[in-house]
Amino acid sequence: MYFQVLKETLVRHGFTFESETDTEVIPKLAKFVFDKANEEGDQTVTFSQVVLEVMRHLEGAYALIFKSRHYPNELIACKRGSPLLLGVKELNDDVCNGSAFHDAKFLSKNGNPKELFLSSDANAIIEHTKKVLVIEDGEVVHLKEGGVSILKFNNDKGRNGDSLSARPASVQRALSILEMEVEQINKGKYKHYMQKEIHEQPESLTTTMRGRLLRGGSCKAKTVLLGGLKDHLKTIRRSRRIVFIGCGTSYNAALAARPILEELSGVPVTMEIASDLLDRQGPIYREDTAVFVSQSGETADTLLALEYTLENGALCVGITNTVGSVIARNTHCGVHINAGCEIGVASTKAYTSQIVVMAMLALAIGGDTITKQERREAIIDGLFDLPNKIREVLKLDQEMKDLAKLLIAEQSLLVFGRGYNYATALEGALKVKEVALMHSEGILAGEMKHGPLALVDENLPIVVIATHDACFSKQQSVIQQLRARKGRLIVMCSKGDAASVCPGGGCRVIEVPQVEDCLQPVVNIVPFQLLAYHLTVLRGYNVDQPRNLAKSVTTQ
Ligand code: AGP
Repeated sequence: MYFQVLKETLVRHGFTFESETDTEVIPKLAKFVFDKANEEGDQTVTFSQVVLEVMRHLEGAYALIFKSRHYPNELIACKRGSPLLLGVKELNDDVCNGSAFHDAKFLSKNGNPKELFLSSDANAIIEHTKKVLVIEDGEVVHLKEGGVSILKFNNDKGRNGDSLSARPASVQRALSILEMEVEQINKGKYKHYMQKEIHEQPESLTTTMRGRLLRGGSCKAKTVLLGGLKDHLKTIRRSRRIVFIGCGTSYNAALAARPILEELSGVPVTMEIASDLLDRQGPIYREDTAVFVSQSGETADTLLALEYTLENGALCVGITNTVGSVIARNTHCGVHINAGCEIGVASTKAYTSQIVVMAMLALAIGGDTITKQERREAIIDGLFDLPNKIREVLKLDQEMKDLAKLLIAEQSLLVFGRGYNYATALEGALKVKEVALMHSEGILAGEMKHGPLALVDENLPIVVIATHDACFSKQQSVIQQLRARKGRLIVMCSKGDAASVCPGGGCRVIEVPQVEDCLQPVVNIVPFQLLAYHLTVLRGYNVDQPRNLAKSVTTQ
């Protein structure tokens, strides 16, 4: 690890370290650079020169703010890979979108006092101002005695082969306006963001679909319009394959949408976890369409996979929830999921909106052949009705709380799914694991006899997803086999199916509304989200910020 090399060098120069974090290397390196410049008699070394020299030695992604007693009334911020925003609030606000932000005079223009905010996330800034500058890689924001300048660091070394003698250029940038409201970051009547975000899914899904689904009069066909993709649909249809790339929940959402993409587009669809694609340097071709799925649009692995894919010449499509994010900016085209601001670390409403966007993508790519018309119309009708079905499934809140009480002391929970709901099994288990800190594993039911069956006994709780679709009879047989081994079953089934999934009783049943098969994962995930939420609260853990996790994973 590169930071270890830097750390060892600093230790050799007498520095001591108080933690095992790589971050601690950075201020110590800055001190080293500053001391060295002074020893060499350069009393005039500026704060920005010190920071530029530090940046030159850093590898990987970071967003940093520097303060030093050697440079009072100065502050420097810089970034590479990770997001960084500068919020600008004028107390007598008269700056509008497009204002130039270029030099120290900006602060004293009109004589209005201004406040500046630095953050990696718009959510932290929105309550103060909507005006932001998205800092780009290699840029250095320098605040000095009430003035602010943005310098561009171009990796050139100065005449002495270091950054101390390099002259960074001052750059001019335009402010942008955040498209979000402060209410979006309030919890409202809810105790936690995760709870709020689960319960606002009927509205977030409505917003995701708004203006994109067209259901005309009696003679007009039902269609989908994805503005950000319309000029690229032909190329996507002609692709050799569609490759979905993402991490965590975003990957699971793509997995849930994969079957409908295959069915409607006829194009082979493959799945890539971003880090695994990079580890293998897997093949990507010019004839591929790569779809990058990311709530934040800033996940380091997904971003690096995007760079890799761009280098290999594929068409890159972004599906993100964050306007202006790096993935949104650096892909050739894309769709915003418009789920609204998601603050809880556990992704909930973004997951369901991602699936809906990908179902719409499948409809858009699929075209209007007569043979598929009935199916397409059924899906479009199902999409229109989906927010109502989510309202219905949210009524299971108390039932999921009761189930959480039963499971509170368990060590482990298995979830069996297949077909459209293999993704639901993975995502349900991920939710339980990441917030309730309980081991949980999503298992492809077709793999049951190839290992997992050995775990089954009368103690281990197992959820089997057996809602009504083409895999239903196979899931019935899985349930029978698990019961034959005295498995402790919780079965998720379509309303009215309780008797057929669990003849003679003896298992706990969660009945959910039935929708078109490809949309069923959107409904089926909700009870898992509720279960994970209640389990976490009952177990006394932090539901919005689970230990060791961050909302946006901006480092590898
Ligand atoms: C999900 O609950 C997690 N927070 C995590 O798996 C997340 O989905 C993953 O880190 C990807 O994030 P992204 O969608 O912002 O790229």
